[in-house]
Amino acid sequence: MPEKRIVDQTNNDEAEQALEQTLRPRMLAEYIGQTQVKDELKVYIAAAKKRDEALDHVLLYGPPGLGKTTLAFVIANELGVNLKSSSGPAIAKAGDLLALLTELKPGDVLFIDEIHRLPKPVEEVLYSAMEDFYVDIVVGEGETSHAVHVPLPPFTLIGATTRAGQLSAPLRERFGIIEHLQFYDFAELRQIILRSSKVFHSKIDPDAATELARRSRGTPRVANRLLKRVRDFAEVKGEQAISLPTTQAALTQLQVDDAGLDQTDRHLLKMIIELYGGGPVGLKTIAANIGEDMETIQEVYEPYLLQNGFLIRTPRGRMVTAKTYRQLGIPQPKSE
Ligand SMILES: Nc1ncnc2c1ncn2[C@@H]1O[C@H](COP(=O)(O)OP(=O)(O)OP(=O)(O)O)[C@@H](O)[C@H]1O
Ligand SMILES: [Mg+2]
Repeated sequence: MPEKRIVDQTNNDEAEQALEQTLRPRMLAEYIGQTQVKDELKVYIAAAKKRDEALDHVLLYGPPGLGKTTLAFVIANELGVNLKSSSGPAIAKAGDLLALLTELKPGDVLFIDEIHRLPKPVEEVLYSAMEDFYVDIVVGEGETSHAVHVPLPPFTLIGATTRAGQLSAPLRERFGIIEHLQFYDFAELRQIILRSSKVFHSKIDPDAATELARRSRGTPRVANRLLKRVRDFAEVKGEQAISLPTTQAALTQLQVDDAGLDQTDRHLLKMIIELYGGGPVGLKTIAANIGEDMETIQEVYEPYLLQNGFLIRTPRGRMVTAKTYRQLGIPQPKSE
């Protein structure tokens, strides 16, 4: 991957993480969009509180930047409990998991990000923890090693993953609540942009907010990032409020088009057209051509293109559509 994409939905930059922290809604009422997910969660949370029990385990899945981590914290806040946070790759050994679990108080939330990357032996220890709130673990080595049975307080595991398909069946089955986060529509993104600009103490014209929403790839993380960049342009121009012309000029400079596609998207789509006659072409070939691994293409690049009909999946591979040709301004050859 050459340079970092402005529409990159993933997040690996510390400054951005700090910014996101300040932009994160804390309660369900401030969490914009995902109406069905919220409606379901409201019922489950209210029921758990009424019964004074831990909420059922929750699995959140969907593409990067749609608000899985945010929602995990919101759930804990709504329940009025503490949240301990870790991630699949960080929990290397069963002992690491036990250390996290024994810190929990009754009803607390353990959040495991990238749960599809938990090592298998750790995952197996998690089964009994989730189901019956105990772990059996072997401590010590050689002759002094012995099995210990550790009872745990009832707790809620919230797992997040970009790929539910990569979760093993036994793990998936232990989640009582499974929620799929969807891309946001323009109206929702617009609300998120207006909310974030308030947090930033910067003003934005209504039509500029609409334009940003249209180009944000259905993703709050991208919306917030574009807002921040466009705000810089407006500031340099000395604008009181971010205007539509400045927004358009900034996005043109950042090479984000009116459908939220950036250079990398256009490169991928053009490659399929120019080298493979528009497809079908296999994922492996696409990956080799743009120098990315297949997993990243499936998790990060493709979902938005598929969702918006710029790409379709067929048994023989990926194909572009008439919409793709129109968006790229390439004449579509007549099919023979
Ligand atoms: N529903 C929402 N309402 C308002 N802001 C949101 C919402 N969802 C996400 N955001 C904003 O988008 C940013 C990214 O969200 P978050 O980190 O929760 O995504 P994620 O799904 O966990 O991503 P990843 O897969 O990379 O871990 C957050 O800082 C938050 O400000
Ligand atoms: Mg996250």
